[in-house]
Amino acid sequence: MTGHVLVTGAAGLLGSQILKQAPPTVTVAATSFQRPLPTRYTGETYHLDLSNADSVAHLLSEKRYDIVINCAGASDVDRCETDHEYALRSNVAIVCNLVEGARGNAFRLFSFSSDYVFDGVQGPYTESDHPNPLNYYGQTKLLAEESVAADNLDACTIRVCSLYTTNLTAPRNLYGGILESLAGNRVYRAADDLFSNPTEVTDLARAVWQLVAMPKLPRVLHLASPDYISRYDLAVLIAKKLDVDTKLIERVNLTDFGLSAQRPRRAGLRSDLAYTLLGRQLKSFAEHL
Ligand SMILES: NC(=O)c1ccc[n+]([C@@H]2O[C@H](COP(=O)([O-])OP(=O)(O)OC[C@H]3O[C@@H](n4cnc5c(N)ncnc54)[C@H](OP(=O)(O)O)[C@@H]3O)[C@@H](O)[C@H]2O)c1
Repeated sequence: MTGHVLVTGAAGLLGSQILKQAPPTVTVAATSFQRPLPTRYTGETYHLDLSNADSVAHLLSEKRYDIVINCAGASDVDRCETDHEYALRSNVAIVCNLVEGARGNAFRLFSFSSDYVFDGVQGPYTESDHPNPLNYYGQTKLLAEESVAADNLDACTIRVCSLYTTNLTAPRNLYGGILESLAGNRVYRAADDLFSNPTEVTDLARAVWQLVAMPKLPRVLHLASPDYISRYDLAVLIAKKLDVDTKLIERVNLTDFGLSAQRPRRAGLRSDLAYTLLGRQLKSFAEHL
């Protein structure tokens, strides 16, 4: 594939990998907000608040992009629950501003959503299942999805879930959190009633670029690993890999954490449609350890 691609949120967990895995045949530009971009990246760079409509309109009118891959957004579910203004700004305003840009500048838009648009009663979910978010984060992700699906834009929302990387210098994530605790010989409390498909971001980013190269995609696509496991079982797998005593993993219920936001206990994603398009599954957790 060729063209000029803008990656937004490129300092984040997913965005930094999207940037890293970009095919050499495309010209990439990147945005960040409060964090610096990875030092290895030396391409066209913009620092801006994407929730500011004027800033986004200005950026998109200065240069012509063929594709925008939006990795900017909020992933702190509890902060979204207690700070609605932050959640709306980070998850909805950014996407609406990019949708507005896509209307005027005719680029293809890819954005990321979450399995938390579902209520987690009977996951993992397919694209045809009905969203019913339990928390404010999920509500804002669904609002963003709706804005991407409006009009007849060439746009796709990719729902992902429980992202991690085994690269310990990367932004804080699921794997790093568990590893840090176990390696420090500290007890890690893990819910045995919270299920998802933990998905490694390098593999995910490669798959995203494969999809981006395809001329036509569904409006919503699920893209996660095939593993559907509880947070407790995940922590045990990591402990075994590290050869630390699995007694360090304390089996608890979600309610024991007293979190601000309710979690969909059995959310998670079925990615059969994406696997068919890709001609492969994403790698399972065992392959990354
Ligand atoms: N992590 C997960 O497990 C998970 C699960 C499901 C869905 N998702 C979704 O996947 C996407 C990427 O998540 P992630 O884990 O990579 O998140 P992340 O590491 O927190 O990265 C998000 C990026 O968004 C940027 N951003 C936030 N507000 C901004 C603003 N107002 N203007 C410009 N940039 C802004 C941040 O930029 P700076 O760092 O420069 O400030 C950050 O780099 C998000 O849409 C998230 O909701 C993530």
